[in-house]
Order: sequence, then C-alpha cells, then structure tokens
Amino acid sequence: MKRLRVLVLMHESLIPPDSLKGYTESEILEWKTEFDVVSTLRELGHEVLPLGVYDDLGDLRRAFEDFKPHVWFNLLEEFHGVGVYDHHVVSYLELLKQQYTGCNPRGLLLGHDKPLAKKILSFHQIRTPGFFVAPRGKKTRKLAALEFPLLVKSASEDASLGISEASIVYDSASLQERIDFIHRQTKTDALVETFIQGRELYVGLMGNRRVKVLPTWEMLFENARPGSPLIATSRVKWDIKHQEKLGIKTCRAVDIPPKIEAKIEQVCKRAYKALSLSGYARMDLRLRDDGEVFVIEANPNPNLSFGEDFAESAQEIGYSYEQLLQKIITLGLNYQAEWRLV
Ligand SMILES: Nc1ncnc2c1ncn2[C@@H]1O[C@H](COP(=O)(O)OP(=O)(O)O)[C@@H](O)[C@H]1O
Ligand SMILES: [Mg+2]
Repeated sequence: MKRLRVLVLMHESLIPPDSLKGYTESEILEWKTEFDVVSTLRELGHEVLPLGVYDDLGDLRRAFEDFKPHVWFNLLEEFHGVGVYDHHVVSYLELLKQQYTGCNPRGLLLGHDKPLAKKILSFHQIRTPGFFVAPRGKKTRKLAALEFPLLVKSASEDASLGISEASIVYDSASLQERIDFIHRQTKTDALVETFIQGRELYVGLMGNRRVKVLPTWEMLFENARPGSPLIATSRVKWDIKHQEKLGIKTCRAVDIPPKIEAKIEQVCKRAYKALSLSGYARMDLRLRDDGEVFVIEANPNPNLSFGEDFAESAQEIGYSYEQLLQKIITLGLNYQAEWRLV
C-alpha cells in the first residue's frame, strides 16, 4: 500500500490529542471520530496532518500549499457554525483540484435539504413519507391529503434536533404548536410528514459509480412500553440514561424476509444514485409491517467512529476498521470530479 499524505479536515475544536489517557468518557465522545480516524490512518503508515477549520478558507489554502496532500479526509460538518455550508468547503477543494473522501458537493447539498431530496426521490418513485413544508414566518396550511398522525421535524437540521415523542401529532392544534416549536427552537422551516409506524432501520453504502450496500442495521427499543411509538428522538440518540431505560441498542436486523432485504438494498442503491451521493452514506429507513420500505432521509458522510453503526456493519462483511478507512480513501482518490475530466 502506498504511503499517502492525508490531511484530515475537522472542526477546530475537535482536534484530538495523541492519546486517550486522562480524558473522561464524555470528553472523549466529543472528538472520538477524529481520534479514531487520525490514529488509525497513522497506524496504517500514512503521513497524517489534522487540520482544524472554523471560518477561514485561507487555512485550507495554506495547508494545501505547505503539506501537498494526496487526499483530504473530510470530517468537517460545518463552516462558521453553519451545517449546510459543508458542501461549499468541498466545492472549494474541487476548485483547488484536490481529492477528498466522502460525498461530493451536490450530494451534500441534497442530503441536507430534506424537502428537495424527497421531491427527487418521489420523481424516481422511491417511497418516502408524504409531506409538506411549513416555512418560517408564514402561516401554515395543512394539506388536506395528509392524514394524522403526522411527524414534525426540521427541514434541514440533523442529529434529531427538535425531535421528541411530542413530534408525533394527532390533531391540528398540536400540529400548529409543534410547527411553531420547530421554528422557534431550530430557526429552520418545519417538515411535516406522514408518521410511519414500523421498524427503524439504517443502511450503510459505499461507492461512487458502483455502490456496495452494507448489512441492514436496526435500532431496537427493548424496554419500551408496548404500543409506544418507537422513534429515534434526540434523547434516544444522545442521553445515555434514557438509552438504558428504553433498552436502546443497534445491531444487525434479523428476521427480515429475503424478498424485503432485496427490496431494501434496491431502494437504498437507487436513492444513493438519485441523490448524487458518492464516497459513503447511510440511509435512514422505516419498514412497515406490510413490507413497505420508506426512505426517511439520506445521510452523506455519516458517523465513522470505531464501534458505531457504519463501521460495525462494514465489519460484519469483513472490513476491519483499518480496511474501511483505506477503502474510503481509495474511493476518494477514484472519484471522477469534473476537473479530472477536462
Ligand atoms: N415520517 C416519519 N415517520 C416515522 N418516524 C420518523 C419520521 N421522520 C423521522 N422519524 C423518526 O425521527 C428520527 C430522526 O429523523 P430524521 O429525518 O432521520 O432526522 P435526523 O436528520 O435528525 O436524523 C428517525 O430516525 C425516525 O426515528
Ligand atoms: Mg436521521
């Protein structure tokens, strides 16, 4: 394997130390992905430069000139605090004719714009919950065609920001209340969707033109009250005590009939292509009891920490963590950005 100069791009507050010694579990959680990626790439023998960025493109330009990376490992999720600006940074890398890991600018843009992504999926006849957008600062009009229960969330935020059990609404009054809450709390438009009762599935994918689908992962709620709606709220994702109480765990999904497994794989591949994704991504799905598969959202550049769902599901089909990171680098080096075709 060729020794590469790998520049790992990350938020300036997440530059990891060289060792975990002396840090608490919650401190480590902050920069665990950055630590895992930097230390593993070093173990693989690459020359690794972690670069912290906040709001200065000059930092990227200088690192490009001084370090002359073969590839940029992109772990950056925002620029001057704005999540949806991550694709502009990747566009800048393309303008510098640089090769980078993960998703291209168009796929990042579509991944962050849930309503636009859903319109594209619908065009391709890929099932996604029925929806309407309630824009900030405008009066809401519920589309008559959508039946309760509905789920109200942000049109562009991630990490389940603003999602709790109260996000599922059963009447017009609580719908309006929850839309106002999303506007107030997240300062984004609200996305109102048909609530899909069913299993919560996650599927990792890797590739550019040819795409590999990883085994289907499932979030289980082992101690949840029978009949309670099982959704990945922000407490389910981030509150360790709450996770213990509900018996939250994620693992390979079992007992999915082969026909439905095949459908899941096909839906995920088609959605990946329809949304112009590249590098690696994770689809969030809901599987209804009648076997219908709904794409809830596409996540370009999902969490790559060691031990998290993406790495675990890759491990299941034989990719060690080292091999996974190396594969992601190879995909980055092979991606045919427009500048390479000129
Ligand atoms: N239409 C829906 N029906 C049922 N559950 C949903 C729906 N939309 C979102 N959820 C639940 O909320 C979680 C977070 O929603 P998602 O759109 O994936 O946002 P985020 O970007 O914050 O992960 C999902 O994993 C799922 O559990
Ligand atoms: Mg999600």
